[in-house]
Amino acid sequence: MCKTPLHEFLAELPKCEHHLHLEGCLSPSLLFTLAAKNDISLPSADEDATYASPETLSERYSHFTNLDDFLQYYYRGIQVLVHQEDFEMLAWEYFTTAKRDGVHHAEVFFDPQSHTERGVSFDMVVEGFNAARARAEKELGITSQLIMCFLRHMPVQSAAETMASAVAGGHFDIKEGSKERAIIGLGLDSSEVGFRPELFVDQFHEGKERGLRRTAHAGEEGDPSYISGALDTLHTERIDHGIRLVEDPELLGRVVDNKVLLTVCPLSNVCLQAVKHVSEVPIKTFLEAGVMFSINSDDPAYFGGYILNNYCAVQEAFDLSMDEWKTVARNSIHGSWVGERRKTELLASLDACMKKHAGRSSVST
Ligand code: HPA
Ligand code: ZN
Repeated sequence: MCKTPLHEFLAELPKCEHHLHLEGCLSPSLLFTLAAKNDISLPSADEDATYASPETLSERYSHFTNLDDFLQYYYRGIQVLVHQEDFEMLAWEYFTTAKRDGVHHAEVFFDPQSHTERGVSFDMVVEGFNAARARAEKELGITSQLIMCFLRHMPVQSAAETMASAVAGGHFDIKEGSKERAIIGLGLDSSEVGFRPELFVDQFHEGKERGLRRTAHAGEEGDPSYISGALDTLHTERIDHGIRLVEDPELLGRVVDNKVLLTVCPLSNVCLQAVKHVSEVPIKTFLEAGVMFSINSDDPAYFGGYILNNYCAVQEAFDLSMDEWKTVARNSIHGSWVGERRKTELLASLDACMKKHAGRSSVST
């Protein structure tokens, strides 16, 4: 909860989330619960004292030094996820919190290689996540899509095998009746610098041929050439993070002209020390230049906040007007990978929210 006069409006604003790692929703308490349930041993106090309790782990999460420092905890945590019900529970926790925060539509990432390399079946992971997605649509009215990410620190051969597993499992097939694919698109995540997007050109080319949507993390820690590399060689339609775009005005112009959506994650950027404070995230620059972006939570269990906390942090730092928030919400809807019918519904919810809160001012009186 923020102290700005727009808090109630921000809470009710219909949100689309486009940058959320389901594995990044594993809270320290769920991590300890699942470790006990699945008989997974956590590092001993000698190896890493941070695993003494959920509280010590939470405390460690409050001072990551960079992306790789975070990722070592993220991958270690993932190991407690073993059974289909674990994946379903994790995703359900996300959807219930997302509902509380006003999310109407979510496009969520998962990292298949982080499970298959431990012998956990690809198909089972997808089944678990999809069970939660179906329940979220039925019980919470949240529509969603699933995006599988390749881990860029792993050999390209592993990404090729992951692509083959998804094909063999029929996860890219358009299911009769639902007209939907279990997995709608491809993403690229993990350590950025030194693992250029160009490495994964074959997988993204195949994805394009198969009609999959495409996005990649770029410009989080990497310089703007990682962004142009993703756009030019992987033909991504979005860029995840992308905050370093401001360092290349010409590229920024291209992103505007081509209506590429950036999925910005302000609290993540602070936690991983890409910026010192939310006010350094180029929110105003992007708004003024006409860059389309959405605001997202990335790995909320690690970065101290779900999507509404991110909206509030932006409001505290930039004091945006209601019209500027309308632009953010509208661009988030237009940049979503959903059909026109759902977009029309989302736009109608946005209009209703704007009407309900009309007259509210960002300035307290
Ligand atoms: N960046 C890169 N890889 C990731 C992230 C991130 O923010 N979260 C989970 N995997
Ligand atoms: Zn991310």
